[in-house]
Amino acid sequence: MNNFVKVSRHDGVAVITIDNPPVNALSPGLPEAIGAAIDEMNADPAVKAAVVIGAGRTFVAGADIKEFGKMTSGATPRRSLLPFLLRIEDSRKPVVMAIHGAAFGGGLELAMAGHYRVASPTAQVGQPEVKLGIIPGAAGTQRLPRLVGVAKAVEMCAEGKPVSAPDAAALGLIDRVIDGDLLTGAVAFAREIADMPAPKARERMGKLGTLVENAAILAAAHDAARKKQRGMKAPLAAIEAVEAAITMPFEEGCQAEQKLFTECLFSDQSKALIHIFFGERELAKIPDVPKETPVIPVNRVAVVGSGTMGGGIAMVFANAGIPVLLKDVDEAALDLGMEKIRKNYASSVQRGRFKQAFVDERLRLITPALSYDAFSDVDIVVEAVFEGMALKKSVFADLDRACKPGAILASNTSTLNIEIAGATSRPEAVIGTHFFSPANVMRLLEIVRGKKSSKEVIATCMQLSKRLGKIGVLVGNCRGFVGNRMFGPYRREAQFLVEEGADVEAVDKALVEFGNAMGPLATGDLAGLDVGWRIRKEYRHLEKPGIRQPFAEDRLCELGRYGQKTMKGWYRYDENRRANVDPEVTALVRKWSAEAEIPQRQISAEEIVDRCIYALVNEGARILEERFALRAVDIDIIYLNGYGFPAYRGGPMWHADTVGLPKVYQRICEFHHQHRELWAPAPLLKRLAESGKTFAEFDREQSAAGLLERVNSA
Ligand code: 3HC
Ligand code: NAI
Repeated sequence: MNNFVKVSRHDGVAVITIDNPPVNALSPGLPEAIGAAIDEMNADPAVKAAVVIGAGRTFVAGADIKEFGKMTSGATPRRSLLPFLLRIEDSRKPVVMAIHGAAFGGGLELAMAGHYRVASPTAQVGQPEVKLGIIPGAAGTQRLPRLVGVAKAVEMCAEGKPVSAPDAAALGLIDRVIDGDLLTGAVAFAREIADMPAPKARERMGKLGTLVENAAILAAAHDAARKKQRGMKAPLAAIEAVEAAITMPFEEGCQAEQKLFTECLFSDQSKALIHIFFGERELAKIPDVPKETPVIPVNRVAVVGSGTMGGGIAMVFANAGIPVLLKDVDEAALDLGMEKIRKNYASSVQRGRFKQAFVDERLRLITPALSYDAFSDVDIVVEAVFEGMALKKSVFADLDRACKPGAILASNTSTLNIEIAGATSRPEAVIGTHFFSPANVMRLLEIVRGKKSSKEVIATCMQLSKRLGKIGVLVGNCRGFVGNRMFGPYRREAQFLVEEGADVEAVDKALVEFGNAMGPLATGDLAGLDVGWRIRKEYRHLEKPGIRQPFAEDRLCELGRYGQKTMKGWYRYDENRRANVDPEVTALVRKWSAEAEIPQRQISAEEIVDRCIYALVNEGARILEERFALRAVDIDIIYLNGYGFPAYRGGPMWHADTVGLPKVYQRICEFHHQHRELWAPAPLLKRLAESGKTFAEFDREQSAAGLLERVNSA
């Protein structure tokens, strides 16, 4: 045995405590230590049963994900947990698994190898492997259907969602939910069952169902996976592995699972998703804002502006149980805002996302306001009024007067400089909190560091993002911040391609097939083409003469085609908002292109993808070098959570690494040659490509050398 496991005796019951902080992952040596403890318990005549429990905050979070990279790179041999789980299941004396926190992945597989499972009411169990691009690899797909039935097992393995302990008890996965002290309850339970025969999950056949029933379940699961997890291989592999549990004996089913597991583990999709798993945990690491930075308690908040964004942001706070004041200029605007919130909640109730009682409670937390009178009580204000520097500055001056000292003043601006702070006497309290639309749905929150934003304010916003269920990414203060700054060149290329002869739907289709949630032109129609048009008109004087600019979208706006809101944009929309190709647009664009003397040609799907995606990569590399993002993986996470980039490709920067930076660089050089200045390769990309490095290596080297600096808040 080793330090991972401690054994104590409680009146005839051996308690085996797993202790591998922070989450008791099954690191090398730990399974062996549990196995040795079980053998020891079997050999001890004074012991009748064992309880396996986790020390610290959780039972077992699964296999050690850090080991996967070592296995796929060949640095360490592949380890299988299967033999050691059989050793537990074959224990002569019963083993009770006592679960608190999470039993995820290998953790649940470990629990299912025990003869009984008890859990705290707040515990969760699940097979989330698909979220890492893999499938359960220690007989999870074989034991789970035997315990909960095929339908639930397929759902849990293919979708990866956790199940609460009470629900797991109803399914038969947990034998008893224990209120009060888990260890005491588990030991008492172990004594109760000590003299009974120890049931083995692998020998239970009662819930495996009939061939006919299962065929329908599996077909429905395939359809759901293809629709909801489009492009992902692991969910389909998980379904296939569960199918093996039905059609093969246990041992053969395990072999089939192993084969599928290995294929998934070595896939690019899994590497990409594991990159994101660790990347999400890196986000909170900000070089000059250490973990110990004090945070400002947030108990009451206010939102200024009850429009599209303000209303959504108010819902985000209310959903987290935080009382929120929602202010607008007049009764009419406020009524409209509150009405939209009510409608939004009503449709969530209709779709079964929320219960009516939950919604009533949330609505009670939102207090409409026409003045700043009650603002003296709030800890943070999020401003979401119309986009315009003069208006924002005047609102911030008002907030400065109305809010107590120490309150955070945040702006939801999508384009303006956070130097709005200059309008206040407390620039250290000013920061950007850039929510994405619809704010109550999208998980991304860009936290924009102003030149003077204090560390406490940054730390508070990062922590608050978690509490709100958002993924907060700290970004620098440049035009468009990170996400929208990259989105500009991406959408520019989409328009150029249409102006050069590609069909509107061909551009969108190529990018949807690449994996994006929507094509760039349909996205424009959804957000409103007029938004960008207005901004471009305002900034036209800043454009460098002689540089090609897309024009078709502006011309569509001049014709009143603003997108879905006017039922016409790049597409024509029916009353159900379904997009239809509009021959009028095709004819207009061809005519405008002829007038502009743009040669027309056949454009392949491959070129469409390269032009749009490499435009993202090139701008991302500039952002990284200019330090408006701390790490390449931060950019990846922004794209996954705010822009519908396919998670299984790991984000634009990871995708470029996967393709190979020399290849990406060479393609960008070709585009530079063909399309000139706009395609000048980013110097960092050139350097990395020429030295055979990747963005991920760049991140690692910067971090190891202590070169991660604060984001650029110029
Ligand atoms: N392996 C290695 N490290 C892990 C880990 C794992 N399975 N799970 C979490 N960690 C690490 C995190 O990287 C983080 O490290 P850091 O502090 O150095 O950044 C630390 O543990 C804490 O993690 P969180 O910040 O996520 O802590 P939370 O308390 O918010 O969440 C959790 C805890 C719910 C357990 C969450 O960490 C989680 O969901 N973990 C992953 C679970 C998972 O995917 N399990 C399946 C693994 S694959 C598998 O088991 C294959 C098997 O079938 C063979
Ligand atoms: P909107 O036009 O829907 O709503 C703006 C609201 O602000 C209106 O209700 C208006 O009455 C109110 N308002 C104006 N002046 C006010 C004042 N002095 N005091 C109180 N309320 C006032 O605008 P939207 O789309 O919600 O945008 C708000 C902000 O969010 C802008 O800065 C925008 O750039 C940003 N943003 C918008 C996104 C979007 O997709 N719409 C996405 C991310 C950021």
